[in-house]
Amino acid sequence: MKYDFSTIIDRANTSAIKLDRLNSLFGNAQALPMWVADMDFATPPFIINRLIQRLNHPILGYTHADDAYNNAIVQWQYNQHGWEIQPSWLAFTPGIVAGLNHAVQAFTQPGEKVLVQTPVYHPFFYAINNNGRELIKSPLTYIDNSYHIDFQALEEKMKGGVKLFILCNPHNPVGRVWTKDELAKMAEICLKYDVTVISDEIHADLIFKPHKHVPFASLSPQIAEKTITFNSASKTFNIAGLTSAYAILSNPDMLETYNRQVELNGTGHGSIMGYEAVKAAYSADGQMWLDQVLEYIGENIALVKEYLDAYIPKLTMVELQGTYLLWLNFNAFGINHSELVRMLTRDAGLALNDGQMFGLDGTGFFRMNIATPKSNVQEALERLKKVFGSL
Ligand SMILES: Cc1ncc(COP(=O)(O)O)c(C=O)c1O
Repeated sequence: MKYDFSTIIDRANTSAIKLDRLNSLFGNAQALPMWVADMDFATPPFIINRLIQRLNHPILGYTHADDAYNNAIVQWQYNQHGWEIQPSWLAFTPGIVAGLNHAVQAFTQPGEKVLVQTPVYHPFFYAINNNGRELIKSPLTYIDNSYHIDFQALEEKMKGGVKLFILCNPHNPVGRVWTKDELAKMAEICLKYDVTVISDEIHADLIFKPHKHVPFASLSPQIAEKTITFNSASKTFNIAGLTSAYAILSNPDMLETYNRQVELNGTGHGSIMGYEAVKAAYSADGQMWLDQVLEYIGENIALVKEYLDAYIPKLTMVELQGTYLLWLNFNAFGINHSELVRMLTRDAGLALNDGQMFGLDGTGFFRMNIATPKSNVQEALERLKKVFGSL
């Protein structure tokens, strides 16, 4: 079956955050929404049909993560990433942001140090700050239009008493898919300084060839013992509204500690629709859909690159290895950040994520969501050209 990703679907009156918050966040209700990380593509029909089928049963009572659900996750992790996990290692979380908070609470004490690599997905900061832990930033280095890890600097920070490291693997917003070698070096430092790791792998399925996602905990039994991995079908299959994600912990003590925290927070139960959607998504149909959506997003990446090279050469697109979130560098224009914000939202009529929300090293950068029909991408590029093309 060939899926359609080109038709523009009107999301008005569906309580879509991407649309409904345009005015409050961007001051322009008409801006082209290319910010929050969900897709403008239809959620796959085999998922929708599964939900409809479930609704044919008249009772929607308390429901658990059954064997079929757990096995679907186990099989998917193996098929996608060659990672062998056990059903008994799984824990439910309504979302990864919730899970991050619970893991910070479970594995650190107030005042202890938690490290992140900036620029990074901003709820990492909140999970640390809101829980009264100390935020330690280890900035990534931006060289040759791509991001790298300064391992010496990372080790210096870890040495200073870091308890927990929140790794973004692959890394939102800079689009890096960390290599096995990079991950192994990070693992080595974590083991040396006895640092526990949260590996947020929500974007793990959204990888462009020849890059390959390596689950952090799959590196060695030693690092698996220190790691809690979060993942979800929500980004891959556009089901974020179903609030269903999961944690993977092979260390039974860590699993117990985490589950105790989840119990304290009262968030251990999912919804029928979330469970059903995951079972439908993590399937042969899901694999076929994923291959096609990646091909389509790959074409969008090529479109942006060619257009920028031809018409706005000063605006650079950081190499996108994974995720559908482009990291655009406007620094060559020499325009200050707040003026760039104004030009993008008012003059160009574009709602992109402000790079500074991911840390101050995001100054002069904006994040553009290209999981959208090509005609939207084309429209965004033309709007950018109108404002920046002759500067
Ligand atoms: C790295 C990362 N983690 C977590 C999330 C959100 O996860 P959830 O919706 O399951 O809380 C996102 C969404 O953009 C993300 O990019």
